Amino acid sequence: MQYTWNDIEQHLAVCTQCPLSRTRHLPVMGRGNRQADLMLIAEAPGSQEDRQGIPFVGGSGEILDRLLEDCGLKREEIYITNILKCHPPGNRDPKEEEKEACFPYLKYETFLLKPKIIVCLGRVAAQRIISPDFRITRQHGTWTYRKNCALTAVYHPSAILRDDSKYETTKEDFCKIVKKREEFKQQKTV
Ligand code: URA
Repeated sequence: MQYTWNDIEQHLAVCTQCPLSRTRHLPVMGRGNRQADLMLIAEAPGSQEDRQGIPFVGGSGEILDRLLEDCGLKREEIYITNILKCHPPGNRDPKEEEKEACFPYLKYETFLLKPKIIVCLGRVAAQRIISPDFRITRQHGTWTYRKNCALTAVYHPSAILRDDSKYETTKEDFCKIVKKREEFKQQKTV
């Protein structure tokens, strides 16, 4: 069965696949350009995202917007989503069973988008998407290649909120991502 974006949204709106459905206000569907070549995957919605049903609208969103702007990227040209679509109470780490229950949403989003580049924001996404033993402090900014997609991870914007010395490193990582994107675009035109 081939799902559409609409199908994903409709399923998610009434999803009860895990207990987070009982504590969430709104599920948070990925947002952005559904033709984007660049997909950002973070951990789970925070409390403000839970209230508005939109990813990265709180303090982490402000950091993310600054990073994007500093590298010449706009939210409208990329797609941003999360491993979990519902807010874990108290911002705790997602549980294994929650990640498993929610994974089909991410799978279908990725299938429909077919991104050329996936950027994991933070350890939780990197360990679920790139490798279970991914070490964000050592391996941020490194590349893994899978099928037709390049994958990397950067610090989560909330880690920058806690320690702003991570901002410059993360900006450099994002600028390398922009460069990689340009390289891919040039390969397509030669
Ligand atoms: N943190 C996340 O991981 N995702 C959001 O959407 C917002 C904050």
